[in-house]
Amino acid sequence: MGNYVTLSLETHLFFARIMKEHGLFLEAGFLCKDKEWIKKADWFRKNFEELLCDTVEVSNGRISRSVLDAGELVTEFTIAAENRTEKLSGVDINSNISKETKELQPFGNVRDNRNILRIVHGLNRRALQLLNGFIEFKESILAEVGKCRLYQANYPLLIEHILREAKLYRATVRKLMEGRDLSYQCIRDTEVFWNQIMMEHALFIRGLLDPSEEALIKTADDFAKEYKNLLEQAKRQDCRANELTKEILNETIKYSEFKAAGAKGILDCKILSVILPLLADHVLREANHYIRILTATIN
Ligand SMILES: [Fe+2]
Repeated sequence: MGNYVTLSLETHLFFARIMKEHGLFLEAGFLCKDKEWIKKADWFRKNFEELLCDTVEVSNGRISRSVLDAGELVTEFTIAAENRTEKLSGVDINSNISKETKELQPFGNVRDNRNILRIVHGLNRRALQLLNGFIEFKESILAEVGKCRLYQANYPLLIEHILREAKLYRATVRKLMEGRDLSYQCIRDTEVFWNQIMMEHALFIRGLLDPSEEALIKTADDFAKEYKNLLEQAKRQDCRANELTKEILNETIKYSEFKAAGAKGILDCKILSVILPLLADHVLREANHYIRILTATIN
């Protein structure tokens, strides 16, 4: 049961944050006249933020060092990116959650608290309920945009991309609640999912950079091509980790460095783009999350 608690908390610490940021990106992407869409996106943003806050509150001493050290929950840029994004977008961001996340300690002397199972179960149920609604919401945006009845600033592929991430989060929580093992037994499925995500990040970055940023556009393009190739290769593998897994890990380490440089450049106002600082940090965390999974699979 300790595993259930740990894996549930680690899942929410990563994914509830990702979801609250999706809420913000959606909210900031609508036109001022589309008040109902803005309100709905804001509702999900707030609710995932509360879920994350409640998760952080019970996570001290209950999660693994590898997750804390991965740079998938918070990075050196997160708080600055939150502050800047809050100013630029006018959307509230509770940065205390990031400060508290930074201070979390790995497994240690936590009081044995019998209530924790009940609390974690409650978090999982709340996440599932929120995700059902959020998935429906993202699908409705995609449908309206597809019929040219709604204009908003996010690429349709980005909506589809964040929809897939919400579905992965929901599938993960369901597995946890059914007591199924969460280990990444079929690394191929993980590689196919995340290689596509990594490829799309490169495509988004390429398309959101100012056209004058030629060198960065070229690098982003190269990453997109590389991940497209790795995605095709991953589809042809069996379930076990192999040489390709190592190749993907090496590529993703380079990619994480590129994204970190991008986040820094955007925060320092050295890169021209329409990328919100928090989006730059968000894609960096996802690369770091993937690196942690790949590393655990290989070792
Ligand atoms: Fe993503």
